[in-house]
Formats: sequence, structure tokens, C-alpha cells
Amino acid sequence: MAKAKSTTSEQTGEPSKQRETIVVVDFGSQYSMLIARRIRELNIYCEIIPPQTDSNILQEKHVLGIILSGGPFSVYEDNAPNVPEWVFESGLPVLGICYGMQIMAEKLGGTVIPENIREYGSAKIKQTEQTSLLFSDLSEALDVWMSHGDRISETPDGFQILANSDNSPIAAMADPDRNYYGLQFHPEVVHTPSGKKILSNFAKNICKLSCDWTPASFIETSTSEIRTRVGTASVICGLSGGVDSAVAAALVHQAIGENLTCIFVDTGLLRANEAEEVIELFVKQKNWDIHVVDASERFFDQLKGITDPEIKRVRIGNLFVKVFEENAKNIENADFLCQGTLYPDVIESALHGSGSAKIKTHHNVGGLPENMAFELLEPLRLLFKDEVRNIGTELGLPDNIVWRQPFPGPGLAVRIIGEVTQEKVLILQAADLILDEEIKNANLYRDLWQSFAVLTDTKTVGVMGDFRTYGYALAIRAVTSEDAMTADWARLPYDLLARISNRIVNEVEGINRVSYDITSKPPGTIEWE
Ligand code: XMP
Repeated sequence: MAKAKSTTSEQTGEPSKQRETIVVVDFGSQYSMLIARRIRELNIYCEIIPPQTDSNILQEKHVLGIILSGGPFSVYEDNAPNVPEWVFESGLPVLGICYGMQIMAEKLGGTVIPENIREYGSAKIKQTEQTSLLFSDLSEALDVWMSHGDRISETPDGFQILANSDNSPIAAMADPDRNYYGLQFHPEVVHTPSGKKILSNFAKNICKLSCDWTPASFIETSTSEIRTRVGTASVICGLSGGVDSAVAAALVHQAIGENLTCIFVDTGLLRANEAEEVIELFVKQKNWDIHVVDASERFFDQLKGITDPEIKRVRIGNLFVKVFEENAKNIENADFLCQGTLYPDVIESALHGSGSAKIKTHHNVGGLPENMAFELLEPLRLLFKDEVRNIGTELGLPDNIVWRQPFPGPGLAVRIIGEVTQEKVLILQAADLILDEEIKNANLYRDLWQSFAVLTDTKTVGVMGDFRTYGYALAIRAVTSEDAMTADWARLPYDLLARISNRIVNEVEGINRVSYDITSKPPGTIEWE
């Protein structure tokens, strides 16, 4: 078979000519993604781009404003990234944040000097120029978050100082004639309470954007682009029960209806009732064309005797691709494979893809079999998770799908330490279901990034009634996170933990001890394997 054709964002159905864009030129700040999120919260489409991007982006994406991000560099370092030439030739409004402000100053003829002491943390700034559009409707003194080594000692010609702080005589600057603005502090972080208003002022007052990028407008544009691209061909989608594949499929279904065929592979490693819920919703209620494949025996067969987490992952991944391929080849006229890839993955591989060490082999249910002759359709590749949820709701998907917590492709296999057997899966599913019920009853489900049970391979002694027991120790994992790159263990109330533990030990045969995982990420990972 031919190699899968690579896809570009253009092929995935963008841009709409009318959609207005702000781009964030990424200089490596840990906050770049956050800037994009804040802008998008204003109903403005925002994309993060590397400094090497060429000027075609301005036309292609209908860019109406540019933000220069912070970054770990000093402008005088040899390898310090530079502002693309086109930024100051475009005539567009530019907002430089931290390093972005310093490189702007340096480029335009100002002076940047190293600070003896790095300024890090909360600071108070005072406006010195009360009429700036950037600070309109904000009080004179503002709490902000600083994190910088260098600072600007002299503004470029045409600039005025907008605000100062004890440590930064130039905490904000502007050349209102050219619409250039610079902030020494970070408006995108929550520790700058008026940051969102400042970004909104930049977008609305200075870039004059109409802020009409909503879930409804996204769906309209995206479905029409999918229709144009797919024509009369068929699209295959691997449905996993997770929110990303469900929303991607729903979008494609909205666009092309019965020309979408979904494949749902029951690996036997799903959460309790998951397969039934997917079938109930998509097959019985929505009447979609879905091939449900029960391959659980084959998966258990592949996992027999395997205890190494990486080998488990690879075997599951390979078998998944095989099962998917076997079923996909029977679908006629299928030129496209739809995947629920999200923006953080796209950005992660575009900006930092090559260098990072592999911690775990990741694969997604519905992942692209590498040698299949499909064109990729990734209608969510520009969206963050919360945006995907909004689109899902707008498309009429129920809350239990839209708000489902992330679930790893290899399923419960990476939550069963040691050999995976059907018996262990049943034990874990039962415990996980209780945990799920209790977390939902406590109204915490949506606040947690993930909450799940892990079946250890340790057996411990206990006593129930007058009898000695010898059962598995189960671990509970509940974490809060923004994006799964880092996570903290959730401070669940003791009473809730007590209820979960009591219920699991009493109701699930085979488990006689429950512990709570209090490891953050890093140094731990979210999943145990
Ligand atoms: P870790 O365990 O690496 O997980 O901290 C980070 C996030 O990724 C999920 N995860 C996966 N998702 N395929 C996926 O689609 C996988 O193979 C996979 N492994 C882990 C995990 O649940 C967490 O949200």
C-alpha cells in the first residue's frame, strides 16, 4: 500500500478568508500556549508560530495583530531568536511581552540592559501615561507578574513610557502612531489580574478585531471546508468513546452525513460500560454507520505473560493498527481518515518535536496506521481541549461524552501493573466505576483532569469479618492539570477518600486495600505505566 499522504493545515480545512487571526511569535516562553488561550477566550482565532515562519502567513491566515512572546533568552545572546523581518514591515499592531518587548526595543533602536537581580514574581506597576488604549478602563496601579533578567533602559524613537514599577522604570511602552506596544510583565498569567483586559484592549481597541470566532462559526466554516475537500469520497474514523474522536467524528458527520463510517474497536481494555455507551449513543440513537469490532480476545492473547509497560504499549498499538486495517479495507471509496488531533500536539511537534526524550510510547485509538493510503482529516487540529468540548456541546453531543476525562489509548492495560488478564480487568473496572460514581456525586469530576484506579500487582493481608483476606492493593490517582504536561495530585476531601475506600473494599471482590497516590508530575507521570 502507498504511504499515508501527509497533511497540511491548509488541507484540513482552513483558513476561512474572513476569519481574523492574531499570531503569537513563539520565542520559547513556557507561557506561549497560554497567550493563545487567552486570546481565543476573547473569541478571536489565535495561532502560535515559530520565528522562522515566512510572511505568507499574513495573507493566508488573515492576520490582523501580532504578539511577540516571552522567552528564556537575552537579546544579546548569540543564539537569541530574532523577530521575523515582516513583523515591522507589515504595518500591523504588535504587542511584545517580556523578551518580545526587549527584542522589539532592540530592533527599533532602543537599549536593553542586563538586570543585576532577576525580577521574578508579583510586582506593582503604576501608569505614567493615562490615555493609552492598551490600559483603557484600568486603574492607575496594577498588580502584575514579572519574570525577566534584562530590562529596557531607553525606549526606541517614537515610543513613550506607559508604566513603571520599582524595579522597572519602563514596565510598559508604546508607539501609538505605529501601534507598537511592549509589556515587561506577563498579562497572560492569572497572577496579572487585569491581564485579560489588557489583551482584550490590544485585540479590540488596537487591532480592531470583531471577536466573532465562536463554536457556531467554527462549525460552519469547518463543515463547509470538509465538504469541499472530501467531495463524494468516504471518511473513516476510529471512534474510541473519548471526547476528541467523538467530536471530530460529529463534525465530519455534520458535514458529510452517511459518507462517514466509524470503526469502534472494543479492545476489552475499556472502562466499564464504555462500549455499551458508545453503541447506545452513536448506533442506536444517532443511527451512524459504525463497525463495532469485538477484538478483546485477541488483545488479551497479545498481552499474555507481558509485564513490561513499553512492550504492552507496543503490542496493543500494533494489534490495534492491524484490527483497524482489517476492517477499514472493506469500506468502499474511503480516501480519508479522520483523527481527533488537538492543537497542543500540533504545536508540541512543530515547535519542540525532535529534541524531547521519549518517556512512553503514546498511541491513540484511531491512530494512523502508518502504511495506509489515506489522506488525513484532522478537523480539531487547531483547537484546545476546552474548545473541543464547546464544539461538542454545540454539535449536540451529551455531557457524558463531552466532559469525559482523557483516557489513554492502551486503556486499562497501563493501569494494571504486571500481567493483564480479563479477570484483573473486571476487578479494575468495578473499582473504577465506584470511584467514578463517588467523584461525580461529589461534583468534582469536571474539576479533575483525571481520576482513576490502578490495580497494583501487590497482594496484601487484611481481615473481613472473622476471616483473613489476601487481595490486591488498589491505588487511586486523581490529578489536576491544564494540559497533562504537568499535573498535581488533587487534594480530595478525606471523607470522600474514606467513602471510596470503604465502598471499593466492601464491594469489589479481590481488593482488600486502597491507597491514594500523592505524586505530582513531574517527577511522576499521570498514568502508572
Ligand atoms: P502521562 O502518563 O504520560 O500521561 O503523564 C499524560 C496524559 O496522556 C494520557 N496518555 C495517553 N493518551 N494515548 C493517549 O491518547 C496514550 O498512549 C496515552 N498514554 C497516556 C494520560 O491519560 C494523560 O492524560
